[in-house]
Amino acid sequence: KRQEKIRNFCIIAHIDHGKSTLADRLIEATGTLTKREMEDQVLDTMELEKERGITIKSQAVRLVYSDSKGDEYILNLIDTPGHVDFNYEVSRSLAACEGAILVVDATQGIQAQTLANCYLALDHNLEIVPVINKIDLQSARPDEVKKEIEDIIGLDCSDAPLISAKVGIGIEEVLKAVIEKIPAPDGYIEGPLKALIFDSIYDPYKGVVCYVRIKDGTVKKGTRIKLMMTGKEYEVTEVGIFRPSFMEVNELKAGDVGYITASIKNVRDARVGDTITEAERMAKEPLPGYRPAVPMVYSGFYPADSSKYEELKEALEKLQLNDAALTFEPETSVALGFGFRCGFLGLLHMEIVQERLEREYNLDLVTTAPSVIYKIILTNGNVIELTNPTNMPSPTEIDYMQEPIVNASIICPNDFVGAVMELCQGRRGTFKNMEYLETTRVMLHYEMPLNEIIYDFFDALKSRTKGYASLDYEFSGYKKSELVKLDILLNGDIVDALSQIVPEERAYYRGRAIAEKLKEVIPRQQFEIPIQAAIGSKIIARETIKALRKDVLAKCYGGDISRKKKLLEKQKEGKKRMKQIGTVEVPQEAFMSVLKVE
Ligand code: GTP
Repeated sequence: KRQEKIRNFCIIAHIDHGKSTLADRLIEATGTLTKREMEDQVLDTMELEKERGITIKSQAVRLVYSDSKGDEYILNLIDTPGHVDFNYEVSRSLAACEGAILVVDATQGIQAQTLANCYLALDHNLEIVPVINKIDLQSARPDEVKKEIEDIIGLDCSDAPLISAKVGIGIEEVLKAVIEKIPAPDGYIEGPLKALIFDSIYDPYKGVVCYVRIKDGTVKKGTRIKLMMTGKEYEVTEVGIFRPSFMEVNELKAGDVGYITASIKNVRDARVGDTITEAERMAKEPLPGYRPAVPMVYSGFYPADSSKYEELKEALEKLQLNDAALTFEPETSVALGFGFRCGFLGLLHMEIVQERLEREYNLDLVTTAPSVIYKIILTNGNVIELTNPTNMPSPTEIDYMQEPIVNASIICPNDFVGAVMELCQGRRGTFKNMEYLETTRVMLHYEMPLNEIIYDFFDALKSRTKGYASLDYEFSGYKKSELVKLDILLNGDIVDALSQIVPEERAYYRGRAIAEKLKEVIPRQQFEIPIQAAIGSKIIARETIKALRKDVLAKCYGGDISRKKKLLEKQKEGKKRMKQIGTVEVPQEAFMSVLKVE
């Protein structure tokens, strides 16, 4: 049977354990691309991804491997994003596979995302092939790490390949293990068609390209298809495989991984997780597990130069073509003018969108501090989902409020347990339990408000553990919480873009810390500027930015015109990221600095 020669798998790993490097080696070893054709990291194509070294969008490549007997196998390698922001995409990529290579760094052992990804893979009943990487390093301790994997995850590691993806040791063994251990796909080739969309991208020439795993049936050019969630119908214009660039083929059958195009205009109409079936002969039910990606974090994006509003809108629309999880709607701020409230999966997602807007679209942005979604239960019984602190109703209308909670797991060496606990408690964490991974490392479980995690938690964690801790978290639900709106006044006026929701018990402390921070980052101006923090009409903190003593231009007299011009130009440079708020100039930094107060 043809399917017996197919293996569909992905690579899962904690960040930096060598997933992309191993993928490159597999591509190279199977001669899919010659070394010269290979870019540095084939699977991470976006420029940004390269710089940050993280995989954002899942991609796929088809490898052809001949074993020692000369039997040819088709190996479909599906790349998965490694960051918690993109967990749902990870889960869909896993659903397209029968197995996963688990890469663990021999110097670091199991980390938070090793476990999180591994459990996800086990949830999807995947066969897991453990691989110990980086054995070329002096500090590698492969035997200990093998034992760790056996004890903690319960995988047999007796014949786990010990490899160096970087140097190219053990790659053949990995391919052998894939063939031997990962089951071949099954499914009814006779149909009806059931294809899982595990990714979709917008291509300027082809329109939306759906990355699919065919579970049942056959699909080819001309097939009338129906997307089961949206109910929309299309005619297939092309099917193909990943070599790794698009290569058209006649048909895709049960067990195959490939792509389908069908003149779909927007990635929103071909959502990751949706099932494609035939219009005339529909599958009884869609493949399980579909859920739309929902934004968890919101932030206001404003053009630094207000005349660029339309450009920002167009850029967001373009990004959205390829990013179904990004949402935005127009919003107006008294302080910042016209902009957009944008929704993101998490902070990393937000930073990526911001950087792409600035780099690829050449926009200067002023962004407001990110906020989670609060649920407000009003005294009249209505429920509001608050994504912008400015819109908080008056306290007299509020019965109570709820905030999103996550289950966080942190892995760190024993020595840092005290420091980590102190940090979590300081961030309103509730201790759940602690497990020993080995004699020297532990895993701590905390329940924490998501809001505390977006406030610079990861950096704080890293700095308190000398970089040794790893973190993973997942949304667990909403909980009642005592919250208030903290306003910041500059020169006596509320700056709406600086308002934030804070726990009541921390309001005074936060208010003071933010006022102090703003005093540092807002440059002195010709006049004195009072900074105040307030809850309702009650002022809880005050700082003052002293006036500049002399006009910068005073030195130049009227005499030297060119010098004066230079000075003015320099000032203009400095102004780039400044926003005029009333009479005060506020740098972009100020809007984010509220995040950096502990
Ligand atoms: P994300 O895409 O961020 O999830 O990371 P990744 O798991 O894909 O890791 P990547 O392949 O980018 O490797 C991370 C770093 O480890 C890079 O600097 C690699 O050069 C290095 N690395 C990968 N494999 C090995 C290895 O076998 N030995 C050594 N010494 N370094 C390696």
